[in-house]
Amino acid sequence: MGGRAGMRPVELVAELAYPARAELGEGPVWDDLTQALVWVDIMAGRVHRLDWRSGFHRVLDVGVSVGAVGLRRIQPGSSKGPGLDAGLVLAVADGFALSGPISGPEPLAELSLERLAEPSVDTSAVRFNEGKVDPEGRWCAGTMSWDESEPVGALYLLHPSGSVQRLVDGVTVSNGMDWSEDGRTFYYVDSATGRVDAFDRDPETGALSARRLVVEIARQDGIPDGMTLDAEGCIWVALWRGAAVRRYTPDGRLDRVLALPATKVTSMAFGGPGLDELFVTTARIMQSGRALAAEPRAGDVFWCRPGTSGRPPFRYGAT
Ligand code: BGC
Ligand code: CA
Repeated sequence: MGGRAGMRPVELVAELAYPARAELGEGPVWDDLTQALVWVDIMAGRVHRLDWRSGFHRVLDVGVSVGAVGLRRIQPGSSKGPGLDAGLVLAVADGFALSGPISGPEPLAELSLERLAEPSVDTSAVRFNEGKVDPEGRWCAGTMSWDESEPVGALYLLHPSGSVQRLVDGVTVSNGMDWSEDGRTFYYVDSATGRVDAFDRDPETGALSARRLVVEIARQDGIPDGMTLDAEGCIWVALWRGAAVRRYTPDGRLDRVLALPATKVTSMAFGGPGLDELFVTTARIMQSGRALAAEPRAGDVFWCRPGTSGRPPFRYGAT
């Protein structure tokens, strides 16, 4: 790879994965046990599930806005015998919740939630936006200020015991996150900073330290949004108002670009049977009628062959 410095990034080609027409499509997560893509439409309070083998799509109505979802771990010996789908851990508008299985035959269903006591956030100032389960089975999710200008948000960690810890304060728009293979580095995007940062991390406690810049996105290229690491340790970042997903090498060099037919690109996840497909969510919100007419596919989910693979998702729950 050394000789490639200065070379133009490889251009990937996007195809439509599902015409979801979401207002704010976000937070895709690949369920490797059931081979389904799960994502949310935040303001609409909906969870989408697309069975990738059959193409069957189902919408689960949460009843409140839903900032992010993660998969729950199947508890061995559970009396209910949940099969392969153990349900979700969710960040709803003001806090966290758990659900039962989300697969089923009806295209439309209601999702009932068990609300957790902590945290309780002030929904007049912030709402939850993006989350992921960490390598140790804890749920990590953050808040963003409604007007995206005040650093009043935070990043939280929910332990399987139900206790909650604040990992980062002073966050303006909490967005993408991921963990290095050894669990000792945490990558995080606060969109308002225009950066992807890294922290040192103690895998046992989840505690973060030594925040530093890894990738800076020029304002005219968009705002860094969702992110994920691939199996090579490269950084994929979605560009809100940038109509693209980019891959950066661990040393910060731009080496792949996926252009999308929607300007507001929110997040991405690796999936497919070989984890070598990439799914990308997009949004329609805050667009004028004319701008939307110019991008009829905004809010849909896109797909490409990224030329590399990702890692299976972590699952929430005690190990
Ligand atoms: C959020 C949007 C926000 C955008 C800004 C997205 O992750 O879902 O509400 O406007 O980030 O970067
Ligand atoms: Ca996002």
